Amino acid sequence: MHAWLCTTLDGAEALTWQELPTPEPGPGQVRIAIHAASLNFPDLLTVRGQYQVKPPLPFVPGSEFSGLVEAVGEGVKHLQPGMPVAAIGSHGGFGTHAVVDAARVIPLPPGFVLTDAAAFAFTYGTSHHALIDRARLQAGETVLVLGAAGGVGTAALQIAKAAGARVIAAASSDEKCARLLELGADAAVNYGGQLPQLRETLKTLTAGKGPDVVYDPVGGDLAEPALRSIAWRGRYLVVGFAGGAIPALPWNLALLKGASIVGVFWGDFVRREPQAAAAALAQLAQWYAQGLVKPVIHRTLPMSELQAAYAGMGSRQVIGKLLLVNP
Ligand SMILES: NC(=O)c1ccc[n+]([C@@H]2O[C@H](COP(=O)([O-])OP(=O)(O)OC[C@H]3O[C@@H](n4cnc5c(N)ncnc54)[C@H](OP(=O)(O)O)[C@@H]3O)[C@@H](O)[C@H]2O)c1
Repeated sequence: MHAWLCTTLDGAEALTWQELPTPEPGPGQVRIAIHAASLNFPDLLTVRGQYQVKPPLPFVPGSEFSGLVEAVGEGVKHLQPGMPVAAIGSHGGFGTHAVVDAARVIPLPPGFVLTDAAAFAFTYGTSHHALIDRARLQAGETVLVLGAAGGVGTAALQIAKAAGARVIAAASSDEKCARLLELGADAAVNYGGQLPQLRETLKTLTAGKGPDVVYDPVGGDLAEPALRSIAWRGRYLVVGFAGGAIPALPWNLALLKGASIVGVFWGDFVRREPQAAAAALAQLAQWYAQGLVKPVIHRTLPMSELQAAYAGMGSRQVIGKLLLVNP
């Protein structure tokens, strides 16, 4: 097998493509021949040692991938060689093969395209948990999605629309905003260089009421104007800090709006509430089959071009997801 190996925490530039011994699955594990993997923001942080999960060095990065089961270890009953599957975890996906715990492997329902499956559970699972479970989003409510052109952002847009909500999608360029309108947003706001106008724009777009739900995977300077704009009884979803800075906001803003600040941690949701997480993925798979949600693939690159994919994500050039595929 071949894989991108992380031997030092110096970022994607330091990864090397290496031939490694093909591993055999131990008890409770399976080996997957990887078809495709997608880049998630934590992959960017993991190879710099900045993510909360720190795999021991050396490791193969890649938190989400799909492929065919190739071999199963002792005690694995629900997976057989040849089955199409997706897998999620902290690492292992940026290569030709991976051995993973069977518990991390999701068998794909008929009709689920393998490349879509490599870019699905992480982002759609997160955004479903955030909007449907944590925010209790209702049909007819308005959702402001910050960082809407990103991986979790595009998933949030589609899930909010599937739930019957109105979506204001916000991103940093006119190009991203135009694409978000094509993807079904009801309105798009360019916050790049226009932060001072954000509150006025949101007021106009909601007839003075403000968004009922704010979905925030960006943080930084966007958070305060977004929270100040929220509607009475609004829910502010703390999803991530792609902008780098963790906002520190005055608590009186929550008091004045009767608003809730709601934390979202999909990884721990899956660990602590596996049945609820599986039920959410089942609903998402149904929505996928009905055409209500589908990963937005910005570009598909050969696995050998992983470093170019990392550079694109790091420089905010991606709309949706980047896929890496094996020949
Ligand atoms: N809480 C959870 O359970 C959970 C689960 C998954 C992901 N996350 C978090 O959600 C965030 C987004 O993840 P993702 O996979 O969707 O990433 P992504 O595809 O790269 O999207 C991130 C978006 O953030 C915006 N952004 C603003 N400042 C940025 C900066 N300095 N660098 C990069 N992007 C910046 C970009 O849009 P503009 O250029 O339009 O601003 C970009 O589209 C990350 O912080 C990630 O860790 C949290």
